[in-house]
Amino acid sequence: GMKAAAKLMKVFITRRIPQEGMKILAAAEGCEVSQWDSDEPVPRSELLKGVQGAHGLLCLLSDKIDQEVLDAAGPNLKVISTMSVGFDHLVLSEIKKRGIRVGYTPDVLTDATAELTVALLLATSRRLPEGVEEVKSGGWSSWKPLWLCGYGLSGSTVGIIGLGRIGMAIAQRLLPFGVKRLLYSGRTAKSYAAEVNGEFVPLDTLTSESDFIVVSCSLTPETQGLCDKAFFSKMKKTAIFINSSRGAVVNQEDLYDALSSGQIAAAGLDVTTPEPLPTNHPLLTLKNCVVLPHIGSATYSTRGVMSALAAQNLLGGLQGSDMPSELTL
Ligand code: NDP
Ligand code: DGY
Repeated sequence: GMKAAAKLMKVFITRRIPQEGMKILAAAEGCEVSQWDSDEPVPRSELLKGVQGAHGLLCLLSDKIDQEVLDAAGPNLKVISTMSVGFDHLVLSEIKKRGIRVGYTPDVLTDATAELTVALLLATSRRLPEGVEEVKSGGWSSWKPLWLCGYGLSGSTVGIIGLGRIGMAIAQRLLPFGVKRLLYSGRTAKSYAAEVNGEFVPLDTLTSESDFIVVSCSLTPETQGLCDKAFFSKMKKTAIFINSSRGAVVNQEDLYDALSSGQIAAAGLDVTTPEPLPTNHPLLTLKNCVVLPHIGSATYSTRGVMSALAAQNLLGGLQGSDMPSELTL
């Protein structure tokens, strides 16, 4: 029959993912799925075993997909679908050389990630974790005029490094708080920046004039270590630094120095290097540093849609047809 004639496609999934994606793959004919069925990352040795002979690989941002993995997979591999919008964990030069297609999950997580970034910004600037801790520990003795004061958005200048999909969504959410100037930096000026009255400025201008700096660029060789000692030294002493892109954009030793010396007011990080950040990391000793465990896209519905999109991208790649979100290599 038809089924026997259809060529069997082997798929390896590197983690337990939301059922939305699993259902789509289960319903696909001629798809033989194997999976690292755990909430924890697949050990490297199991990844190298699991991909052997696979036609499709569905992976996450915690899986480094490099030459070794591609060699282990062998010549069957047609498509890599990552359940993330970031693709800095994929060695694209090697992938492209082999003619493998790549799927990713832009747009569907933009709102959730922008919302979390705004939450992190407000939590950091208004010192919410410190306040919660004081209530629990008995440090709250009275209403005090000079206690737990922070910085507000009203009348402020916000600088966004990387005004892409998420950067724009952050800008749109911050403007109604009464932001006076919206600066952004990147490789090129964006025509859509007009919607948020964004001013394209050199990075140095953004750094020295902003009251809030939000990093929402992708991690590339150019942005790696972009926020270093020189960067923090240009910031205002009263300014807040927020990063929801990738940890490696920041030099964390330099950030620690800037925070502990009072060079900048506070920092909020949703991403770090490494992840998880060791519990004895110096940044975690600072009251003016709020660290979250990379939860930007973590709403139930967003993760479900990401899972479904990753599955659809994978199927498109296996069938040699359109992928809903294919990365141009
Ligand atoms: P986009 O590609 O839409 O935006 C990335 C932006 O980065 C582009 O506008 C690009 O601008 C900019 N950029 C590139 N190089 C530089 C540079 N040298 N200096 C400044 N800006 C630069 O991607 P998204 O907005 O969808 O996602 C952005 C990143 O957010 C992802 O790559 C991912 O790492 C991270 N992310 C984190 C999440 C979390 O959970 N915390 C969730 C989702 C995403 P230009 O065109 O000018 O180069
Ligand atoms: C991504 O998609 O790149 C985020 O970091 C997690 O959603």
